Amino acid sequence: MTALVLAGTIACMLSACGQSSIDYGGGDGDFETESVSSESESAASSAESGSETAADSDSESAESTPVTMEGKKVGIALPSKEQTRWLKDAAALTERFQAKGARAEIQFADDNADSQAAQIRSMIAAKVDLLVITPVDSNALTDVLAEAKAAGIPVINYDRLIEKTGDIGCFVTFDNYQIGEMQAEYVIDQLGIDESTGDKFHVEFFSGDENDRNSYYLFRGAYDEFIDAIHAKTVIVSSGDTTLTATDTTDWSQDAAEQRMKKILKTYYADSTKLDAVICADDQIALGVMKALDADYNGGDVIVTGQDADDANLAKIVDGKQSMTVFKAFGNEAAAAAEAGSWLVNGKTPDESLVEDADWSFDCAYDDETYNNGTVTVPSLILTPVSVTAKNIQKELVDTGYYTMEGDYPVSVN
Ligand code: GAL
Repeated sequence: MTALVLAGTIACMLSACGQSSIDYGGGDGDFETESVSSESESAASSAESGSETAADSDSESAESTPVTMEGKKVGIALPSKEQTRWLKDAAALTERFQAKGARAEIQFADDNADSQAAQIRSMIAAKVDLLVITPVDSNALTDVLAEAKAAGIPVINYDRLIEKTGDIGCFVTFDNYQIGEMQAEYVIDQLGIDESTGDKFHVEFFSGDENDRNSYYLFRGAYDEFIDAIHAKTVIVSSGDTTLTATDTTDWSQDAAEQRMKKILKTYYADSTKLDAVICADDQIALGVMKALDADYNGGDVIVTGQDADDANLAKIVDGKQSMTVFKAFGNEAAAAAEAGSWLVNGKTPDESLVEDADWSFDCAYDDETYNNGTVTVPSLILTPVSVTAKNIQKELVDTGYYTMEGDYPVSVN
């Protein structure tokens, strides 16, 4: 199955059939081992390429993907289909686990923490060999993970840290603080804030859902870059919203972001105060903010940041409406999760040597000091994000095999 066909299959399963789960196997809902076609392996390999070309990485990732999970069942719990990135993660995770001989079932929780807990419980009841979980609410899974542990099922925590539990085998994510820094550095650089003598700049912050630890790192990474300029009153946040809670966007919702932006524009920028930049934690939020700006702001260009390199936002970047986004190579994240998962399923504890042995073509650091979830410091695999503007779309997104150009616009392959 090619990546495009797989993407089409997923789109059909999600939109036409309206299901909240994807079973990539025989169609009866039971886990069955499926043989992996070389085409689907190579689609996964292409997506894993990181900074290399897809062709370069094919042979390399075939070597680094030994079949170590033959016949194993993997239950994957993802937060929602609203953010299109989770659909890409679903496809990439499935491919990477299939390449190891395992069989994956994906469930999406419609951003509902109770539904997600129920979905995970049903995976435990189905006796999966491994759980891969991105939480809707980071604080809501303590009991469920205790049940997984009692059932002897190891857990990969994917992308968003799960809080208050010691029952995580490995956390796999990108450096979210660095993503916030990248967004802020872009704005600071474009506006020339560091070189400014006497100019004032107006910036607003739109964070992700505060129940997601990533939102904290993103906000801190961005805000810390601005702190000195805010104290010096070179940068002014007219809304006064300078905390994660004040800038929170529930469920990372586009609509919520649009409404908050409209309110801020009406209250603080209707008097011709120039809004210079809006730091948006992700691309859905950026879409909501841009809608509000289009409708209610006539004060000139506003720099808008984002994260995830969603197709809709890349089109906005090409059209000059959004300024930048941050790409997190989901194929690499999925590859790291599958590798750590295969260690856990085979009774091995992921450590530094996992990264050494995997010898990936992309950057990945083992970190057992940073990610304390309130109960333990979770052993983590941390990947490196890429800042994307109109200038490097070709190099970072198209040449790496993740996107293809359709006319003037990049479109996701996976
Ligand atoms: C975050 C994730 C982002 C973004 C967001 C919305 O946790 O790291 O990439 O997708 O959730 O779902």
